[in-house]
Amino acid sequence: MSDKPVPPRPGRGAMSARLAEILRVDHAGELGAVHIYRGQRAVLGQAPGRERIAGQLAEMEGHEAEHLARFDRLLTERRVRPTAMAPVWRLAGFALGAGTALLGEKAAHACTEAVETVIEEHYAGQIAELADRDPELAAELSKFRDEELAHRDLAVEEGAREAPRVRPAGRGDPHRLPRRHQDQRKGVNPRRSGR
Ligand SMILES: [Fe+2]
Ligand SMILES: [Fe+2]
Repeated sequence: MSDKPVPPRPGRGAMSARLAEILRVDHAGELGAVHIYRGQRAVLGQAPGRERIAGQLAEMEGHEAEHLARFDRLLTERRVRPTAMAPVWRLAGFALGAGTALLGEKAAHACTEAVETVIEEHYAGQIAELADRDPELAAELSKFRDEELAHRDLAVEEGAREAPRVRPAGRGDPHRLPRRHQDQRKGVNPRRSGR
């Protein structure tokens, strides 16, 4: 037998609470994702000359709807309550999707890239966490993650990084900051330097 100390394991209750939390958060995330694409399609889905992006958005929304349906079933099977914030996720997702689509196709793709990057990283963490505890669920999450990665890659191919950057004033390019702030970044004391 090995003399290695056995790391403490959380009790059953803690484990099932963690699993419930994972499912609840993932369900909410997929609900948000469906509504982001729905919001984008509300703006770009019917517009003439937008057939290409309309088709892409419909396909991605279809994947998100499948992910959401799976989490719906998992919540029921494992008797986990969905988030009470579901109406907020629906509304916020739709507003984000429609809002970015109104800025144009590339802005819509930039939104997709940003959102899918967060979601795939989130899944990657959960897959690592569940690999031993719940390999079946980890395998399902892995499939979803691959689809999120494909969505992100498509958005990048379609010009997500060419979208005009919208940044809050004073953030981003340091050369656009007022001189006082540039000095602070460089560690120059404006009073001593006489500026
Ligand atoms: Fe998804
Ligand atoms: Fe996705």
